[in-house]
Amino acid sequence: MSDRLKGKVAIVTGSSSGIGQSIAVRFAQEGADVVIDYRSHPEGADDTRKQVEAAGARAITVQADVSRVGDTQNLVDQAWSQLGRCDILVNNAGVEKNAAFVDVTEADYDMVLDVNLKGAFFLTQAFVRRLTAAKIPGRVINISSVHEDMVFPNFTSYACSKGAMRMMARNLAVELGPLGITVNNIAPGAINTPINSSLLADKSKLDALLANIPLGRLGKPEEVAGLAVFLASDDGSYTSGSTYVVDGGLMRNYHEQ
Ligand code: BGC
Repeated sequence: MSDRLKGKVAIVTGSSSGIGQSIAVRFAQEGADVVIDYRSHPEGADDTRKQVEAAGARAITVQADVSRVGDTQNLVDQAWSQLGRCDILVNNAGVEKNAAFVDVTEADYDMVLDVNLKGAFFLTQAFVRRLTAAKIPGRVINISSVHEDMVFPNFTSYACSKGAMRMMARNLAVELGPLGITVNNIAPGAINTPINSSLLADKSKLDALLANIPLGRLGKPEEVAGLAVFLASDDGSYTSGSTYVVDGGLMRNYHEQ
């Protein structure tokens, strides 16, 4: 496409499918080399790797469960040892669990918070430590959700994790700005990805959701990836501490009739 990310190396967590895969491929098309992180779908990671390489970029796949701090450190180490540097981090890996508040188990709560929040927290820490040691600037892009702000009944642990990610980005924009590191969130609405597979299989739930979306359809992963390229590129160099919503108008929906 072009070379807006030429010479850069990016880690994209959860890039074996969905939004993460799309961002990894778009970054490669813009000239970046990519660390493809996956937890349990090596075949998806392999598919991403083929697409990244077809775009002419280098790729490595690394199995890492971001909820384990040691795994997050390894992701950053692999980027530096195999690709020589690491300038961009996309905290995309995320999970959600549908349960009424009174039924949420401790195990499910821990899983959601550990992947969505703790994972992004400690991976960002490992990423920043290497940037400061190398004295180079960097970009952190968190894929949060419209639910960093908007209610999501029956997904309270998920909404808590994304709300916390909102504050993490604001705090880190201030703390890391002096180091030349920008921190921003992208808040997708309903995007056609595997995280929505049960919703997509339930026509009445899907129709109810679509009725709330002014554009009348789900988003495509590529429609999120374009914004990630902006935030990672020179075009986004003065942008920090904000959340960018990509939701077809969902958050602003209001009807009198
Ligand atoms: C969730 C989806 C949901 C969408 C819109 C996303 O963050 O992952 O399950 O459909 O928000 O509510």
